[in-house]
Amino acid sequence: MKRLVCLLGSPKRKGNSAAIAGRLCAAAAARGWEVRTFRLNDLSCRGCQACMACKGTLDRCAVQDGLTEVLAAAGEAEVLLLASPVYYGDVSSQMKGFIDRTYSYLVPDWYGKKKPSRLASGRTLVWVLCQGFRGEKSFGDIFPKYRRFFKSYGFDRSHLIRQCGADPEGSTELRDAAFKRADALAAELFS
Ligand SMILES: Cc1cc2nc3c(=O)[nH]c(=O)nc-3n(C[C@H](O)[C@H](O)[C@H](O)COP(=O)(O)O)c2cc1C
Repeated sequence: MKRLVCLLGSPKRKGNSAAIAGRLCAAAAARGWEVRTFRLNDLSCRGCQACMACKGTLDRCAVQDGLTEVLAAAGEAEVLLLASPVYYGDVSSQMKGFIDRTYSYLVPDWYGKKKPSRLASGRTLVWVLCQGFRGEKSFGDIFPKYRRFFKSYGFDRSHLIRQCGADPEGSTELRDAAFKRADALAAELFS
């Protein structure tokens, strides 16, 4: 059975990014995929401690906390879905905390290596990013920045669904357009 792991980076349970991610998860489950969702805001966890144990004696992150299971599950997923609000021009701190801990996916002396990752390659990353600003040019740098890092982990293919203008009073038209893009991507990924 193929696995989709979804990480929700918003503190809002019924926010925009969670709603769009929920559509992708529902489509995957309907097509027989195993779906696991982690709400990062619910976890008790720390950021990367820069202890470098994952580049020495251990082949995983040395910190044992709420992100331990998340890192293991995300590292084995065929499709990893990362859904976050845009906070101050970047992902939420909950999502950034996870991203920093993925440093443990890299092998020792990874820099310049043909295969720098401990993870299998040939996998897919999907980002859902929601922001209040309507202009697509604002904060358009977030996806390419993180895509590069995740590509080195083995997520060769990446997709982005953005909702720009997703404030609490945001139009239902913009939300519906994002839902449509999610449905189209789900049909492509999970058929
Ligand atoms: C602390 C904070 C910082 C934010 N920073 C930005 C920002 O830099 N750019 C932007 O367009 N929207 C910003 N927003 C608005 C959110 O990105 C927007 O409401 C988004 O839809 C929230 O996603 P969610 O509903 O999935 O939580 C910010 C909101 C909060 C609470």
